[in-house]
Amino acid sequence: MIQKQCVTVLLLLSIVLTVTAQTFALPWGVALTSKRLQETNFTTALSTYRVRSLTPENEMKMGVLQPQKGTFDFSGADAIIEYAKAHDMGVRGHTLVWHKNIPSWVTDETWTKAQLTDILDNHIETVVGHMGNDVYAWDVVNEALDDTTAHARRPSIWQETIGDEYIVHAFTKAHQVNPTIPLYYNDYGIIGKNGKSDAVYTMVKSLLNQGVPITGIGFQSHLSLNSHPTAESMQQNMQRFVDLGLEVSVTELDVAIGTSPATAEQLAQQEQIYRDVISACMSTGACAGITTWGLTDKYTWLTDYLGHTEAPLPLTTTYEPKPAYQAIKDMLLVTYPADTPASHPTTDPRPHSRVCTY
Ligand code: XIL
Repeated sequence: MIQKQCVTVLLLLSIVLTVTAQTFALPWGVALTSKRLQETNFTTALSTYRVRSLTPENEMKMGVLQPQKGTFDFSGADAIIEYAKAHDMGVRGHTLVWHKNIPSWVTDETWTKAQLTDILDNHIETVVGHMGNDVYAWDVVNEALDDTTAHARRPSIWQETIGDEYIVHAFTKAHQVNPTIPLYYNDYGIIGKNGKSDAVYTMVKSLLNQGVPITGIGFQSHLSLNSHPTAESMQQNMQRFVDLGLEVSVTELDVAIGTSPATAEQLAQQEQIYRDVISACMSTGACAGITTWGLTDKYTWLTDYLGHTEAPLPLTTTYEPKPAYQAIKDMLLVTYPADTPASHPTTDPRPHSRVCTY
């Protein structure tokens, strides 16, 4: 019922607020590396297409932030924060604890449980303390479950040395340092209802029952034309997490095509998947935002990762909007007069409260 009201309100707003509102009602975010902020084509596109939130693609990961024990390098992260502040955008913090991008000074040594817990504590205290409220949410733990049928805890130095409790510890520590910031569990392959999302649901429900301060679930959503859940599966799955009292975000959306160049039909299929993902999140009434893992096909991690040219993002390599962008525009925008220059946002880019604001 509440969802239907939200949709109705959105439609009414679209019709009525044609003059005053010129920005997305729900933030569209993109992942980027700070050096893109030196490229005029890129920053022009951020403004033209009303990007409201930035996620450092790598520059808030431990290997970048703490390359030597106790020595922190915030330069890339701070550059993104400064840009975001100057352009009325929010920044998503990604990520405090992951099995990848761990500096070699951590992985090259053998630590006792107490020593590694100290390292984790110190990292979280320093990083969450430094960023303060310049980020509007943290991916505290990323990809903690594996892809076996059991979806057990993924082996990592954290899991093997500290044990299952590293997750409780990380959330608790982040919450101590900043008690107001939303704290997320983030993972891939969990946007549809499947064995892995069942395992995340069970784990998170148990953590919530223990009082662990988890605020939200990040659904990475690295999808492809050949592999994506149905709209219904995504909607039902996200809703069950919201029913636990959590907020939800799409944190790393991209939709791989598989071959290149993409045909018009493939681009239309891609657009439909974008629509299904966005509407699944919005239909819960507790969707905090949609982030795509990049802005333009010119810079997508998938070309390296998959080893072929990919086109998974909303803008072409020359910054033209693709059909997928139309999905973002239609579903996230209150209204968007095509020829109006970007203006200051009229809505808060930090949607902490779980009310239906779109
Ligand atoms: C990726 C970056 O995009 C790449 O540049 C880097 O080489 C590897 O990591 N899931 C995540 C992201 O949570 O941090 C990953 O980002 C993509 C998959």
